[in-house]
Amino acid sequence: VEGQHEKQVTCYLLFSLATAVIGSLQFGYNTGVINAPEQKLRMFFNQTWMERYGVPIDPGVCTIVWSVAVAVFSVGGMVGSFCVGVIANKFGRRKSMFLVNILALLGGGLMGLCTLLNSFEMIIVGRLIIGLFCGLFTGLTPMYVGEVSPTPLRGAFGTLHQLGVVVGILIAQILGLEFLLGSEKLWPLLLALTGIPAVLQCLLLPFCPESPRYLLINLNKEEQAREALVRLRGCEDVSKDMEDMKEESVKMNMEKKVTIPELFRSATYRQPLLIAIMLQLSQQLSGINAVFYYSTGIFKSAGVTKPIYATIGAGIVNTVFTVVSLFLVERAGRRTLHLIGLGGMAISALVLTIALLLKEIQSLRFLSIAAVFGFVAMFEMGPGPIPWFIVAELFSQGPRPSAMAVAGCSNWTANFLVGMSFPKLEELCGPYVFIIFMIFLIIFFIFTFFRVPETKGRTFDEIAQSFSGAPPPIYTSPEEASRVVVPPSPGKEKVPLV
Ligand code: GLC
Repeated sequence: VEGQHEKQVTCYLLFSLATAVIGSLQFGYNTGVINAPEQKLRMFFNQTWMERYGVPIDPGVCTIVWSVAVAVFSVGGMVGSFCVGVIANKFGRRKSMFLVNILALLGGGLMGLCTLLNSFEMIIVGRLIIGLFCGLFTGLTPMYVGEVSPTPLRGAFGTLHQLGVVVGILIAQILGLEFLLGSEKLWPLLLALTGIPAVLQCLLLPFCPESPRYLLINLNKEEQAREALVRLRGCEDVSKDMEDMKEESVKMNMEKKVTIPELFRSATYRQPLLIAIMLQLSQQLSGINAVFYYSTGIFKSAGVTKPIYATIGAGIVNTVFTVVSLFLVERAGRRTLHLIGLGGMAISALVLTIALLLKEIQSLRFLSIAAVFGFVAMFEMGPGPIPWFIVAELFSQGPRPSAMAVAGCSNWTANFLVGMSFPKLEELCGPYVFIIFMIFLIIFFIFTFFRVPETKGRTFDEIAQSFSGAPPPIYTSPEEASRVVVPPSPGKEKVPLV
């Protein structure tokens, strides 16, 4: 069995995953890139204003333009993620990723040329298009990765999406330093740089396979699906995978493609849909982006002298703990890691509040840094990576694209709300602002404890089965799971999985 697993991870599989994860990197990069050059952008808005109207821009107007430039990214993300189902089914997973890159070139191009053409509108439109692009990738990458990965490693490979995101954020934080690309001259280049990975991904995608699940289940191309699997798994005998897919395919012929309204109407999907949405909300309402969008300000108010380096420190902790989670997720399971993460974040939020309250005490300055690092580390244990890939696990092929769209859109909407409201909340609540997130974290901890099932080691079909009424099968190992033939679903009544 050990040998079988080794064979399942081929260089070709890793190459295909790495290519898809370039999309995640793009999402992270564009999330992080706007923070460092804030002052430069504000100066640019002022310059264009002066040239057009002969007077300096009103500070209030400048702030509005700035906030819009930041926020349209999430608006684009909401729209993009919502469209993912339609696009992924129409063009297939691989071609969709290819086509979506056009948006990166367009958006990056607009932002890169804004100073040349003296137009701050180009930044806003560029950010909107980049948001669309990232929204699409937050669905496409986890879907593709989930569909090509062997069942026993789906969680570990699913975490690669989040690893791409955090590395993207870190690259943006580092390149955004004043002496690199965050300078007065070079910041448009910093924003346009997203075009390079887009081109790279387009060059590599033709060498990747289309998702075998898409080929077989959606297009009914059995031979092509088999060929893709043989290459991905590195062995001729792919009958086990083929069987799994056919099992799913039988169901799929019954449920066909599931549209978003159908997803909401059908009782079968109610339970997994609720879980998917709640997990996305737990990710965003944990307050993680209050840190990633505003950490420099948070550190400043805690009395830290070089806040930008503390911010980069947070980026490094972020990356390290995503790797830790990658290695733990197939052992500890999704549910446990998510619970540990939410609990740990709640404690860190409390410690941060204490640190902010006691900032006058010199020796406690480092407590705020430690609390933020702890907050970020715990986030990456579970709430960071798991919501992104678990949606692909909770649904079978038919409803998967629509479910990814709904989940992604919930995520982006919550992201937008936190991003927009945090500065105001901070003004209103002062050092107590993180208590709000602590309360959310406790609520999501309780929800996860009672409602979220373990999906580790189970095939898509078995997971879907467990929601449609059959009692959840309990396996001690993935090997055992793979030997069991799942009986057809007896009814539609809901059975809680815990
Ligand atoms: C997740 C979130 C994203 C956040 C990032 C931080 O990918 O979806 O909003 O910025 O983690 O690592």
